[in-house]
Amino acid sequence: MKVIFYSTKVFEIEPIRNANKNGYKLSLFSDPLNMSTVELARGHDAVCVFTNDDVSGEVLKKLSLMGIKNLATRAVGYDNIDVEAAKQLKIAVANVPDYSPNAVAEHAIMMMLSLIKKNKTTEAQIQKQNFSIDNIIGSNVQGKTIGLIGTGKIGSTMAKLLNGFDVKLLAYDLKINTELKRLYNVTYLDLESLCKQSDIITIHLPLNAKTKYLIDDHLLSKMKYKVIIINTARGSIVNTSDLIKHLKSKQIGGYGMDVYEFERGVFFFNHENNPIKDKLLLELISLKNVLVTPHQAFATDEAIYNIANTTFHNLYCWENNIHSENEINSNTNEIKTHLAVL
Ligand code: NAI
Repeated sequence: MKVIFYSTKVFEIEPIRNANKNGYKLSLFSDPLNMSTVELARGHDAVCVFTNDDVSGEVLKKLSLMGIKNLATRAVGYDNIDVEAAKQLKIAVANVPDYSPNAVAEHAIMMMLSLIKKNKTTEAQIQKQNFSIDNIIGSNVQGKTIGLIGTGKIGSTMAKLLNGFDVKLLAYDLKINTELKRLYNVTYLDLESLCKQSDIITIHLPLNAKTKYLIDDHLLSKMKYKVIIINTARGSIVNTSDLIKHLKSKQIGGYGMDVYEFERGVFFFNHENNPIKDKLLLELISLKNVLVTPHQAFATDEAIYNIANTTFHNLYCWENNIHSENEINSNTNEIKTHLAVL
């Protein structure tokens, strides 16, 4: 089997090579998949992409004309893939749904603690040898009300980890997880009630037509004064312009963002010698109550190992005509397809 990997990061090369137990012929490219790079896929049997690759209907059509039948994403989220177009073109798509919910949940908790303890200010002060603590009084997490938006694999791991902080947990999801109610006393509410009652809100939803701009001016204005919001899910779930307005008015006390609405082409790249011009991102970076990480929540040794192994499992299944449980757009997985095209 000949497989082309797009958006290959340096840290992935060794895990990918180690996971290639069947000796597939690999082409590892650092460039993302898009209309300019799609031609590189010619002659391969399968294509492997990452979160910010452009897997639109237009690109998929080109891949289909080259005879590509299999597309594997090395990610949980597949909002960058036109799953419906792939289905029409008979291109099977598989993701890596469960590589390490802990990697992302632990990152979200790191952001939460960092914001609550004003670490960005501390770090800036320390750089100037200012060791006073007048400006960096935080608060306890204990006793706070935390709202989980999304209680799938990552959201429910958050519930498990946060339970140890002795907090009140609220949740909003299409599906109620009765285990979370039983184990951690999680209370499910409608989204607006969760927003009104939470001191800290953490987002763990997929991005689709129903969740795009779910957190907008309306909901932001309903939130508690000085609420902290953490977004490790997808940037476009939050309306960035609305968010900045509410950060400026201090309605939002802190924002931890591992993902950003316009991150494609920026996150994952070194812009030291090619400074970014995105005014919204520059403004967010400049705010002392905004913590930015470049889509790194997933990036742990354990997760990268699991991603590589599951990706090769998906490829192996296709090579051997076995149904992979990770296929997004097969008929046996209608729910996933439905969520992706909502
Ligand atoms: P999951 O599929 O296990 O859980 C998603 C949950 O969202 C489900 O419980 C589902 O019922 C709920 N949901 C879907 N649409 C909804 C809607 N319209 N309203 C309310 N609830 C809805 O996914 P998982 O593994 O928890 O991941 C969540 C997201 O986190 C991924 O889709 C991905 O975008 C993001 N992610 C980010 C990473 C990072 O490095 N920053 C790494 C991995 C995932």
